[in-house]
Amino acid sequence: MSDCNTRIIAPSVLASDWGQVGAEVKRADKAGADWIHLDVMDGHFVENISFGPQFVSAVRPHTELTLDVHLMITHPDKYLEEFVKAGSDRITVHVESDHDVSATLAAIGEAGCGRGLALNPATPFEEVLPFLDQIDLLLVMTVVPGFGGQSFMAEETMPKVAAASAYRDEHGLEYHIEVDGGIDAETVHIAGKYGSNVMVAGTALYGKDDMAGAIQQMRE
Ligand code: DX5
Ligand code: ZN
Repeated sequence: MSDCNTRIIAPSVLASDWGQVGAEVKRADKAGADWIHLDVMDGHFVENISFGPQFVSAVRPHTELTLDVHLMITHPDKYLEEFVKAGSDRITVHVESDHDVSATLAAIGEAGCGRGLALNPATPFEEVLPFLDQIDLLLVMTVVPGFGGQSFMAEETMPKVAAASAYRDEHGLEYHIEVDGGIDAETVHIAGKYGSNVMVAGTALYGKDDMAGAIQQMRE
């Protein structure tokens, strides 16, 4: 796993033109993206329905970049095998979903994928404490999951990023801290200052003609 102090930019294909997702993923790759973020939604855990493992398989042949799959679904354990077979490199599940979190994280690790755990803005940081020694990535949602294009929720979420960063250093752990939702040229620097290093952005990157320039701005 790469160093959790390196800034990683992960465009979210939720905001891309799905009709030409192969070209859109190549565009992100060429523009200097580090990972590709795929937002899976089941219309039950979140209001919206997006795509499933087949969409991940459709993306896989178009890039060598890390596929960072974010499961906003109620029963992630039921679908793990399909997402692994589809070519996911990292799989992130929600602490709020209906599953045995430790068992799911162990299964993701056994499949050779990066183990990610996500928490929503309303979920206290304490809820993920029992699992921080079982993950490679903590995803602190900076919007209520379900839709792109929402505003960054700093108040509810930055203290959690800071707490996650402090806990990791105090306990000699090694997990990335990822933020997702409302990340743009301004909010990326706020999130970085509090301690996150993986920046997911949909609208702020796929909405730009000059994606390379937008990614560069997020690195400075
Ligand atoms: C949850 C999704 C979105 C998406 C990013 O709703 O995870 O956060 O990735 O959306 P933007 O960058 O458009 O806010
Ligand atoms: Zn996401």
